[in-house]
Amino acid sequence: MDRLVVTGGHPLRGSVRINGAKNSALKLMAAALLAEGETVIDGVPRIADCLTMTHVLEHLGARVGWRGSAMAIDTTDATGYEAPYELVSQMRASIVVLGPLLARRGRARVAMPGGCNIGSRKIDLHLKGFERMGAEFSSDHGYLVAKAPALIGAVISLDFPSVGATENILMAAVAASGTTVIENAAREPEIQDLANMLVEMGAKIEGAGTTTIEIQGSDGLRPVEHRVIPDRVEAGTFAIAACATRGEVLLEGARADHLDLVLAKLVDAGATAATEDAGIRVGMDDRPRQLDFVTLPYPGFPTDLQPQMMALLATARGTSIATENVFESRFMFVDELNRMGADIRTEGHHAVIRGVERLSSAPVRALDIRAGAAMVIAALAADGTSDITDVRYVDRGYEGFEARLAALGAEVHREPSLWPAGS
Ligand code: UD1
Repeated sequence: MDRLVVTGGHPLRGSVRINGAKNSALKLMAAALLAEGETVIDGVPRIADCLTMTHVLEHLGARVGWRGSAMAIDTTDATGYEAPYELVSQMRASIVVLGPLLARRGRARVAMPGGCNIGSRKIDLHLKGFERMGAEFSSDHGYLVAKAPALIGAVISLDFPSVGATENILMAAVAASGTTVIENAAREPEIQDLANMLVEMGAKIEGAGTTTIEIQGSDGLRPVEHRVIPDRVEAGTFAIAACATRGEVLLEGARADHLDLVLAKLVDAGATAATEDAGIRVGMDDRPRQLDFVTLPYPGFPTDLQPQMMALLATARGTSIATENVFESRFMFVDELNRMGADIRTEGHHAVIRGVERLSSAPVRALDIRAGAAMVIAALAADGTSDITDVRYVDRGYEGFEARLAALGAEVHREPSLWPAGS
């Protein structure tokens, strides 16, 4: 297993091109299953999670290849209906094939998901939605077995605006008979991207990006070419890294309208943020001011930037409070940050961050994708050289992370782990 070796104290300067959004690309790849033929998706990031989704699609019989920066998914022979444990356990988002499989095959056998270390992540809202549409579920040795001889449109009111449930139900509804209404739907830009691609495929969808989405089921969706939206979480990560190192970075291709609250919070903390034709320029030249923030479904502050923001505020002047409202155990990385000299205490879903003047290097672990990014940011800002192990988590979400940071002036490189795998 690889580790990153980071020597802190170098301000990030220059420009970085923001990749296609992981959380969009994964769902667009699953949506390709809804049409027979070749769907081409441009801007799919070359990260471990997208590779896992490629393997899920191949296991279902699809052929997946690259044409330059575009991924081509040919579903002509995709007659399978199983997502195996080896793949779903690597990435719980594999569960989004459930909707397309129910819609196209009338059945699915999907391993119960594992995935990130950020709390027990349930799929009850997905299943309740499908049940309202006529699907039946049973469990079989760790697998979820789903049957839906006919999917029928229904009114589905989500208890919580779950991103995955909204997307999964949306993908089933476009091929169901009749009208489906998703109430209390999630509003993330990635959902709008998925809806846009489905509409290009011939689906009839209204209200994506609002809390009520109405879908008229239709037959025979056709394959299309589509470009993934830029990754707002990746952009936010580089923006926070620039601020934490007291540097300035142009986030090429990033969309400011997807990052409103994140940029506003960074500016509150003392950053400069300016939108230019090529993207967004973000920088900070002094210690951040203290700041309170609360994670919420979009358009609230994204939970996927909470750990990175905590790493920044670890060196703020004054005491900040972070409140995590989306995932129940997303503060596990705090112990790692404290090993680098941060002074953070958690109580339930609140964290009290007493700013210290500087962080100091330490050997730390990446506990999940975004916590791993937070460790890298902390190490970039710290005195001395830090070792970050379990980098496979960072690789799940960030393409060429260390090379892109190095191009911005960071002193970072990858080395094999000191310990053999499995020890
Ligand atoms: C997606 C993103 C993830 C992001 C999250 C919230 C992908 C691949 N992942 O995850 O990066 O952090 O949105 O923005 O797009 N819940 C239930 N029952 C369900 C579904 C969810 O209780 O059936 C709960 C979860 O446990 C969690 C909360 O709802 O506490 C939010 O989950 P959800 O919005 O579904 O996140 P994901 O789609 O898993």
